[in-house]
Amino acid sequence: MVLVSAKEMLEKAHAGQYAVGQFNINNMEWIKSILTAAEEAKAPVILGVSEGAGKYMAGFKNVVGMVKEIHDYLNITVPVAIHLDHGSYDGAIAAIEAGFTSVMFDGSHFDFDENVKKSKAIIEYAHERGISVECEVGGIGGEEDGVTSAGEQASPQECATIAELGVDFLAAGIGNIHGKYPANWGGLNFDLLEEIQEATKGLPLVLHGGSGIPDDQVAKAISLGVTKINVNTELQLEFAAAVRKYVEDGKDLEGKGYDPRKLLAPGTKAIEAKVVEMINKFGSANKA
Ligand code: 13P
Repeated sequence: MVLVSAKEMLEKAHAGQYAVGQFNINNMEWIKSILTAAEEAKAPVILGVSEGAGKYMAGFKNVVGMVKEIHDYLNITVPVAIHLDHGSYDGAIAAIEAGFTSVMFDGSHFDFDENVKKSKAIIEYAHERGISVECEVGGIGGEEDGVTSAGEQASPQECATIAELGVDFLAAGIGNIHGKYPANWGGLNFDLLEEIQEATKGLPLVLHGGSGIPDDQVAKAISLGVTKINVNTELQLEFAAAVRKYVEDGKDLEGKGYDPRKLLAPGTKAIEAKVVEMINKFGSANKA
């Protein structure tokens, strides 16, 4: 089975007022868990790959190979897109060449004219090949795999300009942050989200930093046009806590508990359960 672009699944989600989860992958365990969870929940799913995670997994081609093989091995039937997260210009081209079905070009750190120029070029290159594209306006605060930003809120006019280039979905800074939210976080800026949705004429919007946002804010964001929610940190915390418990309980010292397949199993199971929980929260269960 082929992997699909994220365009169609996100257009359906926007029309149906739910969000598709982008769950970032870090290794084979992550791929297996997320695909298994999406199949269990009968949900379309997007596997996010940062450039750093791509390097860790021995390059984009290997990532595409692993995803395709695991997908077929597990008989996955739900729509799956493999998407570059916060790609550079060269990274986006390389990911497309390697077989990614969707890319994010993050030109938010360039001055706006440069962001527009580069976004336009990536959109043309990707669309000629049937690949969906996400661009970014404003900044997502915090740090994602080496990509940092102070978290500048997006300008609706700039969002409209990028939307007019034909981008398929748009990430806009609305007070969201990568990583753990600080205790004094002010929440999402819903007035701005509403303005952006209006300025972009109903373009599917992307909420980065999807870990740890209160459920009522997630629901409200979806009602205002958020159609894709990116999650990375929350799964990393789940995985680490489950593996830590296994070790602290001394399970690695019992019998062959040191076998990596046993050692990592609690983390893998924990991620699977968390992804099903988040899919239900985002409303994409049974939408495959
Ligand atoms: P979190 O790590 O905060 O969940 O953010 C993930 C993300 O936005 C990936 O682009």
